[in-house]
Amino acid sequence: MTHIMTKQDKLEELYQLRAESQAGGGEARIRKQHESGRSTARERLEILLDPNSFHEVDAFVTHRATDFGMADKVFLGDSVVTGWGTIDGRLVYVYSQDFTVMGGSLSEVHAQKILKIMDMALKTGAPVIGLNDSGGARIQEGVQSLAGYAEIFLKNTLASGVIPQISAIMGPCAGGAVYSPALTDLIFMVKDTSYMFVTGPDVVKSVTHEEVSFEDLGGASVHSSKSGVSHVVGENETETLLLIRQVLSYLPQNNMEDPLFVPPADDTLREEPKLAQIIPDEPNKPYDMKEIIDLIVDDGYFYEIHADYAQNIVVGFARLGGHSVGIVANQPAVLAGVLDIHASKKAARFIRLCDCFNIPIITFVDVPGYMPGTAQEHNGIIMAGAKLLYAYCEATVPKLTVTTRKAYGGAYCVMSSKHIRGDLNLAWPSAEIAVMGPDGAVSIIFRKEIAEAQDPVARKAELVAEYRQQLASPYIAAKRGFIDDVIEPQQTRARLINGLEVFQNKRDSNPPKKHGNIPL
Ligand code: HXC
Repeated sequence: MTHIMTKQDKLEELYQLRAESQAGGGEARIRKQHESGRSTARERLEILLDPNSFHEVDAFVTHRATDFGMADKVFLGDSVVTGWGTIDGRLVYVYSQDFTVMGGSLSEVHAQKILKIMDMALKTGAPVIGLNDSGGARIQEGVQSLAGYAEIFLKNTLASGVIPQISAIMGPCAGGAVYSPALTDLIFMVKDTSYMFVTGPDVVKSVTHEEVSFEDLGGASVHSSKSGVSHVVGENETETLLLIRQVLSYLPQNNMEDPLFVPPADDTLREEPKLAQIIPDEPNKPYDMKEIIDLIVDDGYFYEIHADYAQNIVVGFARLGGHSVGIVANQPAVLAGVLDIHASKKAARFIRLCDCFNIPIITFVDVPGYMPGTAQEHNGIIMAGAKLLYAYCEATVPKLTVTTRKAYGGAYCVMSSKHIRGDLNLAWPSAEIAVMGPDGAVSIIFRKEIAEAQDPVARKAELVAEYRQQLASPYIAAKRGFIDDVIEPQQTRARLINGLEVFQNKRDSNPPKKHGNIPL
């Protein structure tokens, strides 16, 4: 007699299948994952999302491969956990790759699961967060796996600028597993336990005979300081996931919305007398621009992006009077704040991120110019500098600028000047806005006079002082209206918040086109 399943049996079947799906690659592999200092895909989602907010989809999906003994290696849900949940009550879609199932490798159905939640995110206008922990394409599935990757790359590209896409690298990510993150807006890495490389150390050794460790090839320190691939590094998995929760507070849900307004606890009219003391009297003496930023923003809290990469420029998020803003600032404490290739690329990408998600850009300027030299020229400072120009020029979000000290030459033009649609351009009395620094200028225009002087050194010093007095001030630019106002430094916070409120409903657009041709 056939056994008829009761409702209770059917429920038991569901519980059993769900438990099977949640067990991933099984106890032994989970133990191995923990021993490697890493959490499982599901444990990570528990930290990332608000408590009890995760809703899983596709927990019962299985791969369809049969070659290479794959028919016997079937795991419910395959190697990725997908679904949605909330962060601070706001909807997000997530995928979390499960390294315990065939190294989190990407099968055809793994790709389909990711594509499904990305489509949902695009339909409903909410961010996608990918927790990556994957050995790349599922080798046993061959071209089907490659097809899955290619479709994800296409979806990442189509979603770019529509919904925020955030990637976290939580383990050893190889091959295709690094290209999808590279197409997203921000890449987070975990110190010591996460790696990104197109090909791992073994392949490197066989092709180039180079011996290199995981860490030296693609660890968090390499990608956060040398390659610039990673934007933010957490000390451990928990900190990394909490940093993702935090960054979302600065971003809107999609490109049709404004970022969250968080009523400020900090006084919007707060004056900061310390600001008037920071700029040294000696024009070439460094100071820390981050000190200025901290004194101005709400609660002194600045969320820095790319903190260890191209430190001669500083970028990151903050709130001003409760409004989310992107800050771009030259850093005179590192290489005198000069613009070089890396700094230009770093700032250009950040500006475009702000612009596509309606985040006003605040620029603090103290820049001696573009970096001279063969190393920079031969590696393309012209194109890199043009990227920064392009990014600022095309940006239509409110653009507010404060020149604290130097704004020389092309670097004056590029750093959100009036001429490229700066909405409010303020300067401190210490600003020096000119075509070049006094030393260089005097050496060129008075070359003959200096050479013929009885005491050339003394004559040059005189001329430099004269030039500085006459030209290196904010007032020549202010007389032309290129600077809207010269302000007392202590009032900067109040003036910027007022500017944000005045320009928040600003309307501006670029001519209709398929897309521009940024100098890539
Ligand atoms: C199938 C894979 C796999 C893969 C790992 N596994 N990568 N299975 N396809 N790509 C399996 C392993 O067989 C193993 O299964 C389990 O996952 C754990 O892997 P280990 O090697 O034991 O772990 P670990 O020592 O930590 O090394 C992790 C790793 C290494 C560095 C990621 O596994 C590795 O180098 N994998 C291959 C990386 C790679 O070359 N991928 C293909 C890239 S090509 P068992 O059953 O033993 O536990 C690609 C093309 C797309 O991605 C390009 C698009 C542009």
